[in-house]
Amino acid sequence: MAKDKVKESEIAVHWQEEELIVPNDDFVKQANMADPEVLERFDQANWPDCFVEYADLLDWDQRWHTTIDTTNPPFYNWWVGGKLNASYNCVDRHLKAHRNKAALIWVPEPEEESHQVITYQELWVRVNEFAAVLRDDCGLRAGDKVTLHMPMVLGLPITMLACARLGVVHSQVFGGFSGEACGDRIVDSDSRVLITSDAYYRAGKLLNHQVKAGLSVNHAKGQGSVVDKVLIWRRYPGKVSSDAAMTDGRDFYVDELLKSKKGVRVEPESLPSESPLFLMYTSGTTARPKGCQHSTGGYMSYVAGTTKYYQDIHPEDVYWCFADIGWITGHSYIVYGPLANAATAVVYEGAPTYPDAGRPWRIAEQLGVNIFHTAPTTIRMLRKTGPDEPAKYNFQFKHMTTVGEPIEPEVWRWYYEYIGKGKAVIVDTYWQTETGGFIGTTLPALQPMKPGSCGPGALGIEPVVLSDDGTSLSAGSAGNLCMKNPWPGRMQTIYGDPDRFVETYFAKFAKKESKDWKDWPYVTGDGATLSEDGYIRILGRVDDVINVAGHRLGTKELESAALTVEAVGEAAAVPAYDELKGRVPELYISLKPGFDQSGVDIEVKNAIEKMIGPIARPSHIWVTTDLPKTSSGKIMRRVIAAISNFMDPGDTTTLSNPEIVDPITKQVHEAKKAMGEVTEDERRKLEVEVRRFGED
Ligand code: WT7
Repeated sequence: MAKDKVKESEIAVHWQEEELIVPNDDFVKQANMADPEVLERFDQANWPDCFVEYADLLDWDQRWHTTIDTTNPPFYNWWVGGKLNASYNCVDRHLKAHRNKAALIWVPEPEEESHQVITYQELWVRVNEFAAVLRDDCGLRAGDKVTLHMPMVLGLPITMLACARLGVVHSQVFGGFSGEACGDRIVDSDSRVLITSDAYYRAGKLLNHQVKAGLSVNHAKGQGSVVDKVLIWRRYPGKVSSDAAMTDGRDFYVDELLKSKKGVRVEPESLPSESPLFLMYTSGTTARPKGCQHSTGGYMSYVAGTTKYYQDIHPEDVYWCFADIGWITGHSYIVYGPLANAATAVVYEGAPTYPDAGRPWRIAEQLGVNIFHTAPTTIRMLRKTGPDEPAKYNFQFKHMTTVGEPIEPEVWRWYYEYIGKGKAVIVDTYWQTETGGFIGTTLPALQPMKPGSCGPGALGIEPVVLSDDGTSLSAGSAGNLCMKNPWPGRMQTIYGDPDRFVETYFAKFAKKESKDWKDWPYVTGDGATLSEDGYIRILGRVDDVINVAGHRLGTKELESAALTVEAVGEAAAVPAYDELKGRVPELYISLKPGFDQSGVDIEVKNAIEKMIGPIARPSHIWVTTDLPKTSSGKIMRRVIAAISNFMDPGDTTTLSNPEIVDPITKQVHEAKKAMGEVTEDERRKLEVEVRRFGED
């Protein structure tokens, strides 16, 4: 066997077991779920009915007759026969007990602007009135798709809940993505309405967001999709903050449309459990993003249950999740999960360290935040400024979350000690856009924490680590992390492409002829090990996906953007270790004959920013004479990923051009060392990811 075909199970994992840390008594005493019997109730022997405990947290218009229909794996329906409405469950049903309670507290980035509180009553009024706009002014009906391209403003959750009220399927595109990226998602989702904002603050600047709307619409038009209405929420209602031209008959300001809707009420549609609630696009192995389709009943039950048990939100808590609502974390754990639990959720508009690293702690102190939820990339950033900054402020969390990428044990301990002040429990929640909610995490009052490990499978979920040939691996061996059984929050399909759904998440290990769900394990695309106690340690992606600061980018997306630059002949994107962001993309390019390399790096960076957005901007563009290729001409990303991370490139004898490995290594290492960027000790963190990266 060639050395580059090493099985995951043979890859050494240089990770020592960390100590277990138990939650303090104060936390346990007040926890929503501190009854050890819950572990038995959710035992696999009780699957699938264990999840009824979650579904019972919702109000149903009609109760289901079948827990799960698995007749057509891997396409499942939960709570079959049941009917409900997500907007009703997040808003209306709380009016009786919590009418005057804060549902959302919006914190603008400029510190001189005061925060805005929306009570459940007001949320209900605003959702109704905006639903009337969607229904009466846009003619939207249950089942229609709408694209949202909004920043962190209150209009975003209001829009989502108004769509859900009507059964309109929303597809929110992260506000930081470019107009072109939004246009592609408009086309793929068959949207004819775009809902956007004029402007928002980020790092001290009022960004002109509305300009992207025109770009999105034109980009969609170029692919044959016509957007006939663009609704624009204004940062300052009644005032113009963007110089983007308004197109007559197409573009409307939301604050103007709402004027005629005062007092209008819209009945929530009673929808079958399996009706889609939203699409969320995510990157995969091809340039085309995948629209993960989530259901109403299954998804809502799963986020309601996991929010209650794992985020431990009680109605009187103040919960702040730092994520952007434009990603799945915000959908599940700012909007749908917390609101289904009648919680108070903080929504912050801007950058975490604006105007300085004390901002998060001032917000926490002022609003009395006691549950804090963020990503390792933010924790690393705050850690860099030192422990003195949080120490200046008077706040005390009872519970903290880390999500989105593996957290280094040393960063975990800093979070625990300096932010949690040694008292707050930490849940390291592992999940994906596809999974709807947490799939790996400790249950905070019942299962001890282990720095760097997300914990065991979430209640009712059974993780397994499989070798490439499908055998289940023993503790300590690295392999493909899979989930044996379905759970209610799992996506239903990839919108418009069920074959790709099967191919991406199941084909690797499924017995394709079988109609038994047991033969269809869900493949996460992550490499992991399970330890003796069943805790999962995520090692990184095993597919062509780069996780940058907790956001996924497909290498093909980056490469196709680079190839729009005329001089670029070939391009390959790989993940490189980054102290703050976990990973950053680096791009290797070779030029077409006759082209000069001057200025090409800037052009490529700009092209990527235009086609995807600033988050995709590579840290380095390495222009090389050629790229390492197999005899069939395939670029071996594994080799260059190893070079970028000071690792051994492994066997290069299968390359058609092994002689270029040394000069590329020299070029990259000399440049990196000169910039003092990466040291050789850091390579250990990328072992599995790089070994497998970019191989078929
Ligand atoms: C990928 C999913 C889940 C919401 C945010 C990201 C990585 C996620 C963890 C964690 C280690 C993690 C995985 C996963 N990931 N959470 N706690 N520990 N890795 O959602 O954009 O769909 O990305 O993020 O690689 O596959 P996403």
